[in-house]
Amino acid sequence: MAAEVTTRGRADGAAVNPLRAGLDSNRITDPLNVVFFGASGDLTKRMLMPAMYNLRLNDVLPTNFGIIGFSRSEKSHYDFREEMKEAIDEFSRSGPTKEPLWTDFANRLHYIQGSFDDPEEFKELKRQLEENDEKLGTAGNRLYYLATPPGVFPKVIQMLAAVGLGPKDQAKGWTRIVVEKPFGTDLDSARALQAEVNKVFEEKQVYRIDHYLGKEPVQDIMALRFANVMFEPIWNRLYVDCVQITAAETVGVEGRGGYYDHAGALRDMIQNHVINLLALVAMEPPISPHADHIRDEKFKVLSALRPISVDQVGRFTARGQYGPGLVDGKPVPGYREEESVDPNSITETYACTKFFIDNWRWADVPFYLRSGKRLARKHSEIAVKFRGIPHRIFGEAGDQIETNTLVMKIQPDEGVSIRFNAKVPGPKMHIRGVTMDFNYGTGFGVVSAPAYERLIADAMRGDATLFTRWDAVEQAWMAVMPILDRWLTTATVDFPNYLAGSQGPQSADALLVADGREWRRI
Ligand code: BG6
Repeated sequence: MAAEVTTRGRADGAAVNPLRAGLDSNRITDPLNVVFFGASGDLTKRMLMPAMYNLRLNDVLPTNFGIIGFSRSEKSHYDFREEMKEAIDEFSRSGPTKEPLWTDFANRLHYIQGSFDDPEEFKELKRQLEENDEKLGTAGNRLYYLATPPGVFPKVIQMLAAVGLGPKDQAKGWTRIVVEKPFGTDLDSARALQAEVNKVFEEKQVYRIDHYLGKEPVQDIMALRFANVMFEPIWNRLYVDCVQITAAETVGVEGRGGYYDHAGALRDMIQNHVINLLALVAMEPPISPHADHIRDEKFKVLSALRPISVDQVGRFTARGQYGPGLVDGKPVPGYREEESVDPNSITETYACTKFFIDNWRWADVPFYLRSGKRLARKHSEIAVKFRGIPHRIFGEAGDQIETNTLVMKIQPDEGVSIRFNAKVPGPKMHIRGVTMDFNYGTGFGVVSAPAYERLIADAMRGDATLFTRWDAVEQAWMAVMPILDRWLTTATVDFPNYLAGSQGPQSADALLVADGREWRRI
């Protein structure tokens, strides 16, 4: 019998797809206020506010909630609502705002214009929060979201404490803080920021965001590894030849040249997103899905990363910067021609590193990581490449036998594929590689929600599983510091060294060739 399509449960009255029953997140129970610092910025418009709106649309937000935007630009509550409406209309995955939902949502949006170091404006924030508690029934629960430029994070935290908005000042309810990346620009600055955070918040109240961890296929890594029996026995040095983690983009710096030129690919992608992927693939099974059990294992594996000595940097890493080229058939400028980028910049837009994990499971298995902008294709994946068979029984017919590969596809395709060998149909015993593919879209009949939607909801619920704990952030900085130091002090004469739209610099290929391996094609 066909399932009945019901209109119950959707805030905009639209029909609910019964096939999705049980797949959506549950409604958050605690009433709360969310305060977005940096509310005029791109992140708020493109990601955060559309995420909040869709959480409301899908009945995930609690009945009683308020949203406060705080930033430097001058505007009224009314202007802010209009601006957010335009942003949601443009960027929301559910299309333009719908009535009567939008009017109800907009009435819960307030704006405070202020400088991040003026206590008066923070007092105004306090007043608004108290008013919301009274009028919207938000019960004193507060989620602060730092979406400002990172230089401002410490100031906001200090001001919150100064006006009595820190968790210790609270008579009722809970307070949490979400900290956007980058968490520091090197090990020292990360430690300094952590010291500031620590003065006001306890670790369990801090949610360091890495949006890669909110991507559905990234969460599936744990399901693949720990909800199946057939992968874990071969997930080790006895069977795995190497692991290749790729986060390739076709975009350039997208108007963020000012930030990026001081960051580069190693800081922007490898230190956080890519190393977090490594941790999920390489960690030991946690004893439960509890946030701290998972994060304990991530910390353990990251602390086993073999330090790369400054002398080894040349052999263990490669870097590149794109010149002009063709992306999706269209000509694009080189990095040095991008807006707000130094025309003689030596910032890398491509970084690749080889790490080893010094533990029983992974001894001597190389983990190759790479990330770059303006590459041939947007493509992120983790490929576990297995060793060859120990003995060949098929003679010439087996010449095309490949080594097995398991690929966790992160984006744009989402799923898992396994490459293995099969007999080619026919009278002879010809063998070649074939691919078995699982895709989320077709497998579950759903389109994954954007990572930010999942992560903000988790922070509102108090579930820190998909957020990075300080000890892991520190380990990740420790792993990349020798590379950053070495790159800073060695001239890069060959930049730009790859064409926009290509596979990346030749030196990255050479790094694997020297080990008798090659990169998978982007
Ligand atoms: C951000 C980086 O963290 O991740 C950007 O700062 C990068 O430079 C982006 O483009 C990539 O995210 P995604 O989800 O598009 O892979």
